[in-house]
Amino acid sequence: MIIYKELGRTKEKIPAIGLGTYGLGGYSFTDKSSDKEAIELIRFAVEHGMNFIDTAEMYGAGHSEELVGEAIKGLREKVFIATKVSPSHFRYDDVIRSCDASLKRLKTSYIDLYQLHWPNPSVPIQETMKAMEFLAKDGKIRYIGVSNFSVEETIEAQKVLSKYELVSNQVEYSVLEREIEKELLGYCEKAKISVIAYSPLARGAIFRGKTSNVLAKIAEKHDATIAQVALAWLIRNPIVFAIPKTSKKERVLEFIGSYEINLDLKDLALIDSLV
Ligand SMILES: NC(=O)c1ccc[n+]([C@@H]2O[C@H](COP(=O)([O-])OP(=O)(O)OC[C@H]3O[C@@H](n4cnc5c(N)ncnc54)[C@H](OP(=O)(O)O)[C@@H]3O)[C@@H](O)[C@H]2O)c1
Repeated sequence: MIIYKELGRTKEKIPAIGLGTYGLGGYSFTDKSSDKEAIELIRFAVEHGMNFIDTAEMYGAGHSEELVGEAIKGLREKVFIATKVSPSHFRYDDVIRSCDASLKRLKTSYIDLYQLHWPNPSVPIQETMKAMEFLAKDGKIRYIGVSNFSVEETIEAQKVLSKYELVSNQVEYSVLEREIEKELLGYCEKAKISVIAYSPLARGAIFRGKTSNVLAKIAEKHDATIAQVALAWLIRNPIVFAIPKTSKKERVLEFIGSYEINLDLKDLALIDSLV
């Protein structure tokens, strides 16, 4: 059974596990060699309840967004699309231009969640957020989020928004990368800002070495897999969403199986022993 969670304070619920797309359509450059497979994969994910897709204007130099747009043809209303504007485009006019270009590539008239990909200290956050609020008012984006923002940067971003709330912060979080637990996670819980955990499988590192052995032991107990344990661990926190990436259909079904796993205190202690 799919778990839906409220995004920020929006009253809108989206799946706790969405699909990451960095690498579908290329990394820093466009790669069209696996377009057919990538489109099928994204559509398969949407049809099986992973209808929250994370992409960015920089992924595959725009090609990831094009693949998402192609994959969700005829399904737009069923999909929650999160994309990102790059820090080099944080000037007011550039934000508007980037958004229009993303809309074109995604073949849609609106983006559900528009995120600032990284902080850019050389552009005043007021200017960037003014453009984000204009886009929201104009109906081109529904919600405003950030990514890779510290507590201080998150507070500043919230402060300069006048009519809209900041709904999410997308940051690295996994059984191996727990830096956000020091400060940011607690702040987001208090402020009701959703945390979207990126690289939730530690870019594949959880499948290797000691981590893999420890997670396999827990997985065996739950009749589950290593990936499912890692994702279940993340989404047990009510404010955390996870966006694993895969290029394989069978792994989409594996990700969805994570919803069934309830980790106990012994499992959590074992996972704590990894860091
Ligand atoms: N905001 C940011 O700055 C930022 C930064 C990084 C990532 N992100 C977002 O977060 C998403 C996910 O992060 P990520 O792509 O860095 O890493 P990830 O989801 O932690 O790991 C993806 C890697 O794990 C492999 N994998 C997936 N399931 C597996 C399984 N069951 N067994 C073995 N290997 C498996 C994938 O290979 P296959 O493809 O072969 O399955 C892929 O190489 C990105 O796609 C992107 O949307 C955002």
